[in-house]
Amino acid sequence: MKLRDFGILEGISEVIATTISSTGKPNAAPIGIISDGKMYARIYPNTHTYSNIKATKKLVANVVSDPLLFVLSALGDLDEKEFYTVDEMPALRYADAWALFECEEDKQDNTLIYLHPIKGKILRKRARTINRGANAIIEATVHATRYLATKDEKYLEWIAHYEEIVKKCGGEREKEAMRRLEESIQ
Ligand SMILES: Cc1cc2nc3c(=O)[nH]c(=O)nc-3n(C[C@H](O)[C@H](O)[C@H](O)COP(=O)(O)O)c2cc1C
Repeated sequence: MKLRDFGILEGISEVIATTISSTGKPNAAPIGIISDGKMYARIYPNTHTYSNIKATKKLVANVVSDPLLFVLSALGDLDEKEFYTVDEMPALRYADAWALFECEEDKQDNTLIYLHPIKGKILRKRARTINRGANAIIEATVHATRYLATKDEKYLEWIAHYEEIVKKCGGEREKEAMRRLEESIQ
């Protein structure tokens, strides 16, 4: 399994991780997969993703290009109908590809999770150009999660900057994503 074929390249690849709780509840949240010789993620301990990885030692990386799904999964819960099951793990219907990883916690730093690929599937290949509005949504969503965690108002200024780019460069999907983001941080 070559992760490059899944679009997971060197540097940090933003995916939506799907995990399952010890009671069988699926969860989705964006994470960055870091590849610099090793492959790992840094997961905040106060998240569902973290407790689910602790419980099951598995995550599915969903390769998703829809900015709205990033907003909805980062700032709230996705509807159960967005999920289906692969190898007893949740994956996202909308994903272009999924990759299942075994998770291994670092012995000293428990937020550092090494990722060992098990299997994956490419579901569709689409040609897609870079859209600055879509990129701006990803940046604004990172700031929105930090704003909600810290209430530091500098993040609101940064979100306002990205909102201008979404207005100029985004399509209807990006504008809807920005509306949902704004609602989440009210
Ligand atoms: C693009 C993007 C990348 C993110 N990367 C990470 C990450 O690498 N690790 C992490 O713990 N949280 C990351 N986050 C924040 C989590 O998605 C966010 O805290 C989320 O609310 C956690 O949800 P959960 O409690 O359902 O797991 C990222 C958010 C975005 C928008």
